[in-house]
Amino acid sequence: MMKNGPYLALDTSYQKLSVDELLETAGKRLPEHFDDYRQQLCRGEYRNISEDRPVTHVLSRSVHAVAKQSNRKTRFVDTVQKLRSGRWLGSTGKPITDVVNIGVGGSDLGPQMGAFALREFANDAALHNLQVHFVSSMDGGQLYAVLPIVDPETTLFIISSKSFGTVDTFANVDTVRKWIEPDLTQEQWLENHVIGVSANAQGMTDYGIPPAQQFTFGDGVGGRFSLWSALGLSIALTTGVRPFERMLEGAKAMDEHFLDAPLAENLPVLLALYGVYNREQLGINNLAILPYDGRLRMLPNYLQQLDMESNGKQYTADNKAIDYPTGPIIWGGFGPNGQHAFFQHLHQGYDQFTADFVTVLKREAPGFSDATRSGLAEQQRLAVANCLAHRRLMWDGSENTDSPSDHYPGGHPSNLLIMDELTPESFGALIAAYEHKVFTQGVIWGLNSFDQPGVEKGKKIAMDVLRVLDGESDECFDQSTDAIIQRMR
Ligand code: F6P
Repeated sequence: MMKNGPYLALDTSYQKLSVDELLETAGKRLPEHFDDYRQQLCRGEYRNISEDRPVTHVLSRSVHAVAKQSNRKTRFVDTVQKLRSGRWLGSTGKPITDVVNIGVGGSDLGPQMGAFALREFANDAALHNLQVHFVSSMDGGQLYAVLPIVDPETTLFIISSKSFGTVDTFANVDTVRKWIEPDLTQEQWLENHVIGVSANAQGMTDYGIPPAQQFTFGDGVGGRFSLWSALGLSIALTTGVRPFERMLEGAKAMDEHFLDAPLAENLPVLLALYGVYNREQLGINNLAILPYDGRLRMLPNYLQQLDMESNGKQYTADNKAIDYPTGPIIWGGFGPNGQHAFFQHLHQGYDQFTADFVTVLKREAPGFSDATRSGLAEQQRLAVANCLAHRRLMWDGSENTDSPSDHYPGGHPSNLLIMDELTPESFGALIAAYEHKVFTQGVIWGLNSFDQPGVEKGKKIAMDVLRVLDGESDECFDQSTDAIIQRMR
C-alpha cells in the first residue's frame, strides 16, 4: 500500500497487515489524548517531565526561529556568508579555509549527516572552497586524521555542545588548543578561530568565546533533535543558507502532515504503528535502516541515536517500571554495500528482523557531460532495482525443496520510503517523519522520549574509573574492570 506525504511516499505492502487491519489492532494503542499530544509537540508545549522543560525542536523549523534562538537572524546568515565567501580572516590575516565541527551525539550526527547528504546543493560554492570536517570521538581518532590536513592559521573550530560540558568534546578541544601553538596564541585562537554553539551561553562566556561568536538554542531542543537549530551551522556552512532553509521547510511540511493527515494516511503514525506491531505482536526486536543512496549513508547512525536514546527504556514518563518491550535495536547500513556484507544473513540466516528501505528514484547530475549523466542515471536505476529485488526476496522468499542452499525463507516485514529526488526538502521531511514516528511510539509506550538517564549513568561511572586510572582514587569495581585497570597501571 503506497501512501503519499510531503516530499516522501511510504510503501507498506510488505508488512503482515494492511493499513486497515493495522489501525484495527495496533491503532487501538494510540492513547485517547494523542491528538492533544501531537498538537502540544508542534506548538512547543509538550513536556519533558523528568527534565522539567518543554520540548521545542519543532519550533526550530524556520530560519526565523533559528535566528531567534541564535540571538539574531542576521548573525547566523552573516557568519555563514562570511565563512563561505572567504571573508572571515584568521588572526594572521589569512582567510579561513577549513571548519572543524567538534561535538558528539546529537552535536555531531545530525550536522554531519545533513552536511554529507546535502553538500551538492551548495548554491554559492564558487565563492570559496570551504572544507567542513567533523570530529567527535573522545579517543582522538578523528583528530589524527584531520589535524595533519588543516593549518592552525586558516582553520576555525565550532565547539558544538548543548550542555557545553561534554567531556568527549572538550577532550578534543583541549588537544586542539595544544596543537595550535606556536602558530597561534590562545588569545588569537579564541578571538578568530572558534565559534560556540550551545544552549549554555554562560558556559561559552566562561570559556572565553567572544559574544559575537556564540550561537545559542533553546534548552527545550534535545541534542538528538538539534540539527534544525543553530547547531545546524555546519550544515549551512557546507550548503549555504538557502539549502539549509529548504531543509527546514521540508521538515515543516512533514510537521503539518503529522498534525493534520488522517491516521490511515499519516506517514509518521503508520511508521510508528507498524513498528509497535512488529515489536509487540511479531516479537521482532530490531529494525535495519537500509538507504539505497550514498548521500544517506549516515542515516542508520543518526536514527540509532534518535530512536534508541529516546525509546530504549523500561520506565514510564512518570517513572513506573514497565514489563513490555519498547524501542527496537536500530542498526543497518548503506544498502548497496550491505548487499555484499550482511545481506546473506538477512536472506538465509536464522534471525528475525524488520527493515526500512529508503530509495531515491531520480538524481540530476548537473555539471557532468551528457554521457556521464546517462551513466549516472543508469546507476541510479541499478540501485533502485537492487533495492526492490532484495526487499522482495526478504519478504516473499524463494523455495527450493531440493536444495537448502537455494531456499530463502522470507517473511521479513519492511517499509519502503520513497523520494522522487533527494532534495533539501525531502531530506528534511524524511528526518522529521522519523522524529514524529519516535514521538508517537513514545506516547504509545508511555515513555518520556526526551531524557537519557542510562547515558548519564554511564558517564558518571566512566569518571569514577578515570579517577582510579589517574591514581586519584582506589575504588574497586568488579573483577574484570579491576584487572584491566591493574594491567593499565
Ligand atoms: O549521549 C548523551 C548526550 O547527552 C546526547 O543526548 C547528546 O546529543 C550528546 O550527549 C552530546 O551532548 P552535548 O551536546 O551536551 O555535548
